[in-house]
Amino acid sequence: MNNPWTKKDLMSLYDLSAEEITLILDTAQEFKKVSQRKIKKVPALRGKTVVNLFIEPSTRTRISFELAEQRLSADIININAEASSLRKGETLLDTVRNIEALQADLVVIRHSAAGAPNFLASRVRCGIVNAGDGAHSHPTQALLDLFTMREKKGTIKGLNVSIIGDILHSRVARSDMWGLLKLGANVTFSGPSTLVPREFEAAGVRVCDNLEDALVGADVVNLLRIQHERQRSGFFPSTGEYARVFGLNKESLKYIKPDALIMHPGPINRDVELASALADGPQSVILEQVTNGLAVRMAVLFLVAGCLK
Ligand code: CP
Repeated sequence: MNNPWTKKDLMSLYDLSAEEITLILDTAQEFKKVSQRKIKKVPALRGKTVVNLFIEPSTRTRISFELAEQRLSADIININAEASSLRKGETLLDTVRNIEALQADLVVIRHSAAGAPNFLASRVRCGIVNAGDGAHSHPTQALLDLFTMREKKGTIKGLNVSIIGDILHSRVARSDMWGLLKLGANVTFSGPSTLVPREFEAAGVRVCDNLEDALVGADVVNLLRIQHERQRSGFFPSTGEYARVFGLNKESLKYIKPDALIMHPGPINRDVELASALADGPQSVILEQVTNGLAVRMAVLFLVAGCLK
């Protein structure tokens, strides 16, 4: 596969052009075919060493990065942060410099601090792939969301995409927003006003206080989890009230297009932001998002590794 990619790191969709995003999606489309073969492996990263450094919990992202690395034939090291010298006070930068001294080519990092991957990327030679940093950015989640929308709807341009929930603390909302706007979608944010800053209007997003207004005519509804781990105070009276006012349920279906996609990055708080019947219903593409995450992460690793010195 030809590789016109020029960046050693993947930090945020904010940094990418529409052409670069499309290159990743097109590359992922090719890699999706690898997982449909009898032998689900290619030698694209043979001889490269990838280190997975997850300093915040993860199921989907961690597993699909590791599987993507295996499918690309990379050598893989998984660091258990709790059992590492980070626990003895070693800094993140010293940790990654030591990883680099062992000739690692790429570090995939998840961190609770916004900006941790950017801090590393400008200080080390190896490639850094952001697997989610605080409330800042989760580029591969947005890419798999875009991939799923494009696969199902044919194009992103002109789609009405409503993103509902805890926008304030969501790296997925920010990453989806940049990717969707760059590819020409119409983006609406909705949720309790305490969790949906009006500042996003300046970026070109429509902000709705009312869920029904946000849902009318939607081609895609992406539900976000309330991120209790990032909230310092109560942003709404109770989980029950949130579910009644902003949860997507069968009643909500009358507002969205009949063929609208229901998406969620996971993990789902069932019957809070999304009714179980819809999460498991015919419009849900939530597990297809997970499947597509593997192809997208293969594409990202392949492209980034291809331009390392
Ligand atoms: N969507 C997502 O990032 O899920 P994990 O936290 O399980 O990786």
